[in-house]
Amino acid sequence: MTTAGPRVRLLLDVDTGIDDAVALLYLMATPGVALEAITCTAGNVGAAQVAANNLALLELGGWKGVEVALGSEVPLEVPLVTTEETHGDQGLGYAVLPVARQEVSPRHAVDVWVETVRAHPGQITGLITGPLTNFALALRAEPRLPELLRGLVIMGGAFNYPGNTTPVAEWNISVDPHAAREVFAAYRGLPEEKLPVVCALETTERIECRPDHIDTLSRAAGAGGEPVSPDDAVGTRSANPNPVIACVSDALRFYLEFHRRQNQGYVAHLHDLFAAMAATGEVGFTTRLATVDVEVSSRLTIGQTVGDFAGLWNQPPNARVVSGNDPEECFDLLILRLAELARKRAPASRG
Ligand code: BDR
Ligand code: CA
Repeated sequence: MTTAGPRVRLLLDVDTGIDDAVALLYLMATPGVALEAITCTAGNVGAAQVAANNLALLELGGWKGVEVALGSEVPLEVPLVTTEETHGDQGLGYAVLPVARQEVSPRHAVDVWVETVRAHPGQITGLITGPLTNFALALRAEPRLPELLRGLVIMGGAFNYPGNTTPVAEWNISVDPHAAREVFAAYRGLPEEKLPVVCALETTERIECRPDHIDTLSRAAGAGGEPVSPDDAVGTRSANPNPVIACVSDALRFYLEFHRRQNQGYVAHLHDLFAAMAATGEVGFTTRLATVDVEVSSRLTIGQTVGDFAGLWNQPPNARVVSGNDPEECFDLLILRLAELARKRAPASRG
């Protein structure tokens, strides 16, 4: 008898973060996904808090024994900026999870990346939904990582589209522009199938979560309605007995309120969720080849991703920038997967 191995083996680097958290729950809920390890980058919140969030989410999802390792606590050259106003003091919005039993790994994130990818050449797909600090450091330690990885998916950047951190810069790139520049430089001249799939704001902002998605998810999980309304008092908390639904609802409510404060409406952009779905290959998307560079020295435009889609620089492409995706497909899939996970994690009913 042969047993099928995992369909996709992922090595994650994240700055969890509300949308990172939803992405991680989706991955835990997806059959055929193996999480090789999760490394933590400072970004939305500090790296130690990112690690605590990842461990707590793994426990919520019922996943035991996935290594969670700390990486650099600061960007390569610029001071660390975090964004608690976007993701809450602890990074999970209004959700508060029990402290996990599992502890942070003694290994450094860079060692985790280098050792894991070297041990399984051509088999590991990297998924990075935070600043590129750890991956840039790993590339310094092992410049063959782009060839050794099966593939790489990055959430970051904005191409011919406004930034969400400065008028031209997206958050993940803005936090560590020097790291991002090093990463894109490392991919110059590689074959197309090895180039990173870059999920940037012009397509990730289409993944717009609405209150009815949360309610539909809860009903699909058999956990009753989960009404979240723009008319609710700010900071209202979920009373849902299902811990997965309550966590998702409390985290997303904070994110909805943040986007409303930004005059974007009572919606929440699930950037990292789309990157995770691109990494599992469960949703369709189109890409365009580009030569990408990152501005690191201009006072006004530091952190801007500049994409040459027309070969004007006469440089080989180093990225596959996502050019089209289907938000409805993503939410249908999210609801299907998370409902299943929530059902599994429902408290045993008292009879
Ligand atoms: C990115 O920035 C972070 O706040 C999110 O988690 C996402 O990875 C979007 O710009
Ligand atoms: Ca993130």
